[in-house]
Amino acid sequence: MRRTLIAGNWKSNGRKAGLETFLEVLGGGLASASAEILICPPYVYLSKAVALAPEGVSIGAQNCSVEQEGAFTGEVTAGMLADCEVGAVILGHSERRELFSESSELVASKVKRANTEGLMAIVCVGESLEEREKGLAEAVVLEQVRQSLQGVGDASGIVLAYEPVWAIGTGKTASAEDAQNMHAAIRRCLREQYAEQADGIRILYGGSVKGGNAAELFAKPDIDGALVGGASLDAKEFLQIIAAG
Ligand code: 13P
Repeated sequence: MRRTLIAGNWKSNGRKAGLETFLEVLGGGLASASAEILICPPYVYLSKAVALAPEGVSIGAQNCSVEQEGAFTGEVTAGMLADCEVGAVILGHSERRELFSESSELVASKVKRANTEGLMAIVCVGESLEEREKGLAEAVVLEQVRQSLQGVGDASGIVLAYEPVWAIGTGKTASAEDAQNMHAAIRRCLREQYAEQADGIRILYGGSVKGGNAAELFAKPDIDGALVGGASLDAKEFLQIIAAG
């Protein structure tokens, strides 16, 4: 019912030449892939990625402005992304929350902008190590889910991504059981707001996903794919994750 989605978040990595090679290698290895595939390079490479994306690969951005348009130097709006045939946007990544002080309230406003422009919004949530050690992980994550979707009436364009902060870029992955438990809790929470749609909303896991641990994660009933950082920069490694999907 929920098609597996495997999304690569390049963060502030990559160059033009590498993007070309990456998409070529990716395209050559997708023949038997059943998952939906999304690559999210930095803004400046989006149009090039859209032009070069092989069949079956969509392109997304890593952020967008909360504003519709106007005098906001340096900001890129959801409307501009849609105009450039970008189909999705990652919102509320923990790096944006931590390094750029983005609140869940701001994320909810961005989700509404993305919705209006017809972009898929991948809404990221996740607890810190300290919060997990204090036994607060589920409470923190569910509060982020509620606040980041506050006032978002229609969930048809929404994907959730559970990314425990302590697992990002550290080589430590949540165990498949722990991840499944959190995903199930997120889905119960989504049912409160989206009774009809909750079972169709995809919940991705993110945090040190690699070719070697993807299959175990994807085998869990509420893990509907992955948001991949480091391993999405290497087409061969990324193809291994896709093969597990
Ligand atoms: P890593 O896969 O490098 O841990 O990053 C995860 C992430 O932040 C994806 O958004």
